[in-house]
Amino acid sequence: MPLLVEPALPPGTLRDAAQPRLAADGLVLRSWRRGDAAAVRTAFGCADIQRWHVRRLDTLDEATEWVGQWADGWDAETAASWAVADADDQPLAQVGLRGISLAEGSASVSYWVTPAARGRSVATRSVNALSDWAFHVIGFNRLNVSHSIANAASCRVAERSGYRLEGTLRQAIKHTDGWHDWHIHGRLQTDN
Ligand SMILES: CC(C)(COP(=O)(O)OP(=O)(O)OC[C@H]1O[C@@H](n2cnc3c(N)ncnc32)[C@H](O)[C@@H]1OP(=O)(O)O)[C@@H](O)C(=O)NCCC(=O)NCCS
Repeated sequence: MPLLVEPALPPGTLRDAAQPRLAADGLVLRSWRRGDAAAVRTAFGCADIQRWHVRRLDTLDEATEWVGQWADGWDAETAASWAVADADDQPLAQVGLRGISLAEGSASVSYWVTPAARGRSVATRSVNALSDWAFHVIGFNRLNVSHSIANAASCRVAERSGYRLEGTLRQAIKHTDGWHDWHIHGRLQTDN
């Protein structure tokens, strides 16, 4: 059955090029490497990262698998993740896109920051750099940030990065302590 609209972004928009390295106001967003697995395992030792991302990484093998999945996501054009690195090239944080729909030109933004790096706008700088690339280099139309209404820090990151609060979905996500209502924030290419 023919579609009546063209896809917002054609297939191959991501996979036809290498995942880019992005500058983020003193930080670098780069692809994950196998050698980052130990840092990722340590990051997932943080109770807040476990809580809000609803997973643990118990072994180096699991962390290696986590690091390795993103090359497949890029090739499938369904998900992407960047390590946010400091001047020593050590990962301080993660920022990425989940649920990528090229047809709709949309995706959801994901982020976490290791405890020692928090409070220095690492998340905000990273989300802004990723958003600028996604909107102005790739041509996404809309990006979302969704978080439990109990996650006040994530809400601030979304607001500070230009993602307007658009509404609350009731009991939209299951955390270890039960169902949580979800804030939906959105930023459009034309918001900038
Ligand atoms: C949320 C998170 C990514 C923020 O990282 P960060 O680099 O410290 O964020 P920034 O420095 O860019 O901004 C943090 C903002 O949140 C505010 N904040 C931090 N902790 C807060 C809290 N407990 N309650 C309310 N606001 C809080 C800060 O004051 C700051 O806002 P301000 O500049 O207006 O004062 C980090 O705390 C984290 O990784 N948390 C665990 C994982 C997570 O929640 N991921 C998001 C899932 S949706």
